[in-house]
Amino acid sequence: MKYDVNQLTLEEKIALLTGINEWQTSSANGKLPQIFVSDGPNGLQMFDENGVRKSATAMPALSLLAQTWDKELAYLDGETIANDAAEKGADILLAPGVNIKRTPLNGRNFEYFSEDPYLSGVLAREFIKGVQSRGIGTSLKHFCGNNREKGRRVQSSEIDERALNEIYYRPFEIALEAKPWTVMCAYNPVNGVYASENKKLLKGVLRDKFGFDGLIVSDWASVQSSYKALKATIDLIMPYNEDTLPNVKAALEKGYITMEEIDACVTNVLKLIEKVQNANKQINYTKKERHENAVKIAKAGITLLKNEENILPLKDGGNYLVVGDLSKKPIGGLGSAYVQTDYEQKTVTELLQEKLPNAQVGYDKGACACADWAGANRVKLEYAKRCYVEAYGKDAVVVFVSGDTEGESFDRSHIKLKREYEELIENLLKYNKNLIIVVNSASAIDMSDWIDDVKAVVYEGFSGEGTNEALSSILVGETNPSGKLAESFPYDLDDTFTGDYAGDGFVEWYNDSIFVGYRYYERAGIDVLFPFGYGLSYSKFAYSNLKIEQTDKTDFTVSYDITNTSDVDGAEVSQVYVKDVFSMVVRPEQELKGFEKTFLKAGETKTVSVKLDFRSFAYYSTALDRWHAENGVFEIRIGASSQDIRLVGKVNIELEDDEQQSQAFVYYNN
Ligand code: GLC
Repeated sequence: MKYDVNQLTLEEKIALLTGINEWQTSSANGKLPQIFVSDGPNGLQMFDENGVRKSATAMPALSLLAQTWDKELAYLDGETIANDAAEKGADILLAPGVNIKRTPLNGRNFEYFSEDPYLSGVLAREFIKGVQSRGIGTSLKHFCGNNREKGRRVQSSEIDERALNEIYYRPFEIALEAKPWTVMCAYNPVNGVYASENKKLLKGVLRDKFGFDGLIVSDWASVQSSYKALKATIDLIMPYNEDTLPNVKAALEKGYITMEEIDACVTNVLKLIEKVQNANKQINYTKKERHENAVKIAKAGITLLKNEENILPLKDGGNYLVVGDLSKKPIGGLGSAYVQTDYEQKTVTELLQEKLPNAQVGYDKGACACADWAGANRVKLEYAKRCYVEAYGKDAVVVFVSGDTEGESFDRSHIKLKREYEELIENLLKYNKNLIIVVNSASAIDMSDWIDDVKAVVYEGFSGEGTNEALSSILVGETNPSGKLAESFPYDLDDTFTGDYAGDGFVEWYNDSIFVGYRYYERAGIDVLFPFGYGLSYSKFAYSNLKIEQTDKTDFTVSYDITNTSDVDGAEVSQVYVKDVFSMVVRPEQELKGFEKTFLKAGETKTVSVKLDFRSFAYYSTALDRWHAENGVFEIRIGASSQDIRLVGKVNIELEDDEQQSQAFVYYNN
């Protein structure tokens, strides 16, 4: 190794174990290059020396990327952000976040992928590969159990072993296959011990079980005691922590921490510095191409939820009204994932008029100019009347709405639309039934009060600087929507497991255990408004010809045909779910274990192939302390969504005991 821990004095070693400010590591009195880290998952968030955000490409949020179900686009997303990072001098991108969407209230759900660990892990893995392909490191975060913002710095997530392994560790375990340079610990305690001091979590699971050999960085100001964090194998305490030097020196003198433990952390920092030095940072997209990549991902992730009477796509020559200022400047999520872009989007109204030159496309701010409505001076009646008059008689009215604000350090207070938007829809319906609702939110919305009365719903998500281009392209049919939900949409917050309960401030007991998202709704027999994996297209797809070939004891190749039976080219996300038919332990009704996105021309048929292996059938046995696949029958279900199963096959697993051992990822040589 180029840098030797013995070159450093004790003070220099300890200084290396914390930042020198928010974003940089120490140079150890000029002996070492510094590392520059920067957020975030939805694009580069970097500040100049005056603390002003530098502009960067505002990519769609990871929640929107997840709705693409496209591994190649996940790679492209990471690669694109890495271009900005390389250009602006960041060495490590503090992303992706893979925390599971356990409650739709979580303020940071927009930054995360899914309620399902497999979808989250696979897309995060490809995102990491994309970032690191450009010589920029990543930070897989937040390990673990950070599933809401309320109380994140104090409230312990009390999670059982099966849920940890099958749900909360799992996306990290899968994403680690891409060898992220760093992993970031979570703020919260897990089972009573802060993640930053939780040696079982960081060393026992991350390093010893999953084989992670990179650097573990704390979340920002998440460290309570520096020496305890280092003993738990946190290598880098961020940002600069003035307590670290006195705290670690005192602990060393008292024998609470050894020089070997300190040197082990220092060595990991030196390894990271070397990795950064040896990295070949490459820029392969121009600024314009990065923007185009953002548009491409947005087009593939925006999800069509309802399209009654095929009111979409809009027709040239039609008479339309666009309502709401979110059609001009869509919102995104707040906090460390916020991205400052200098890209000026055209409005949806302008774009629709360009794309439909013979149409009439009007605009109205809407009767709920939010600032007016929320403030004391409720909007004047004539504003409302003007909007309704404008809407009256139009072929369609495209209404832009959003839910409660989403961001870091707070959770949503409800999952409906903002009240003024619900009233707007209610009032507009009196003057025009042909409403197309565009939802500019990034977490599940309870639409039950109005969904039956409107003709179409497009879930726009937080789609970054390419939102309006992507959305307009879908509205006029230039782009055939192909996004599918990566989280279930419940009818009502009370249908969710946690409801509005958010723990008692000290502890939140995850007594839903493994039953999270669709796993919960299906087991509890609770209908949802839109199921996990649901999304409409302008095309129709037929599934046929399921074949299952056994290639080894628990290895199978599942293949099936998809036909685009429409006259419109499109893309279909097919999903592979596995059900343990006769299980000796409680298990979900079914679990996602494979997926593919297939582009099909009108009338075209393609054969899709998905591989299943031991982990597709196994559950985590707390009795055996390893993954275990019971012998017996399993159903293989091919679905257009978790609730729209098109093909079903069966396989039989027959493993000898010794094969069980060899197949499982045996953690502790038992
Ligand atoms: C924040 C976030 C983390 C982010 C870091 C640096 O508090 O939890 O995701 O990367 O601090 O901004």
